[in-house]
Amino acid sequence: MTNSAAWSSSAATASGAATYKVYIDGVSKSFTGPAGGDVPALGKVSVGLRDGEFVTVVGPSGCGKSTLFNIIAGLVLPSTGRVYMDGTDVTGRTGLVGYMLQKDLLLPWKSVVENVALGLELAGVRPAVAREQGRALLRRYGLGDFERHYPHALSGGMRQRVALMRTLLYAKDVLLLDEPFGALDAQTRFIMQQWLLDVWQENKRTILFITHDVDEAIFLSDRVFIMSSRPGTIKEECEVPLERPRTLDMLTRPTFTAVKARLFALLHDESMRTLTQQDTLSAAERYA
Ligand SMILES: Nc1ncnc2c1ncn2[C@@H]1O[C@H](COP(=O)(O)OP(=O)(O)OP(=O)(O)O)[C@@H](O)[C@H]1O
Ligand SMILES: [Mg+2]
Repeated sequence: MTNSAAWSSSAATASGAATYKVYIDGVSKSFTGPAGGDVPALGKVSVGLRDGEFVTVVGPSGCGKSTLFNIIAGLVLPSTGRVYMDGTDVTGRTGLVGYMLQKDLLLPWKSVVENVALGLELAGVRPAVAREQGRALLRRYGLGDFERHYPHALSGGMRQRVALMRTLLYAKDVLLLDEPFGALDAQTRFIMQQWLLDVWQENKRTILFITHDVDEAIFLSDRVFIMSSRPGTIKEECEVPLERPRTLDMLTRPTFTAVKARLFALLHDESMRTLTQQDTLSAAERYA
């Protein structure tokens, strides 16, 4: 386990960026609050993701995880800092990463297969070809019978799986997955985790993943970043010393439980801070 200070400081240059697939260089974000003042959402974050790495971010609710993803995806401009991909400054540029948003955002007027094929179609692939690929993916992962259904006829878990398939089919080499399994029951969740690892191992994409589930973070990842309470910074980085492929028996190994105990302790501290902070915030807002 390493402290963030060891790697989040001085390498914040374009030359440092060149050695990483994704390099986040001193990125922070403040939003305008209801009384007009700045509300800091994300503190300064500097991290590098290596090509083909699986990294997970955990942190208390509201600490800025989704904001960080929106910045990497180019949907939100940072207040400070830059985002690099393969050494190139891509701050504010969209369309370069596959992004599964925290809300599944399926288009209600499109069928399941049309939703899955959407990313490819937007990228210029002929609709018939995109849909055939979408159909193959749906069949392979147990949703073949639902390809003509519309999102309202699916369960929450099925909608999330469709949204994840759409993100995977878009086939960018960097994927941002914001709590993709949040609405799934434990069994489906575990099957989806294994499926995601299979897909990742086949294609060697670079994945940045958000979850509140510590077991999930450890099971999936090479490294876990623990964020502090809002405005979030990377409080600590944790290497996961488990070999690949990951298997069920690893969940009870001493290595696994040691990492889990450490993550729980860090998260507990930060979540307590978040609760205290919310009291302070609501008092401040009341008198704003
Ligand atoms: N567009 C926006 N305008 C104003 N404030 C925002 C905006 N987006 C996010 N925020 C605020 O920024 C902070 C961080 O939000 P964010 O959604 O990034 O948190 P999070 O870590 O993803 O939380 P969760 O775990 O609940 O999903 C919150 O206080 C949120 O209210
Ligand atoms: Mg979020």
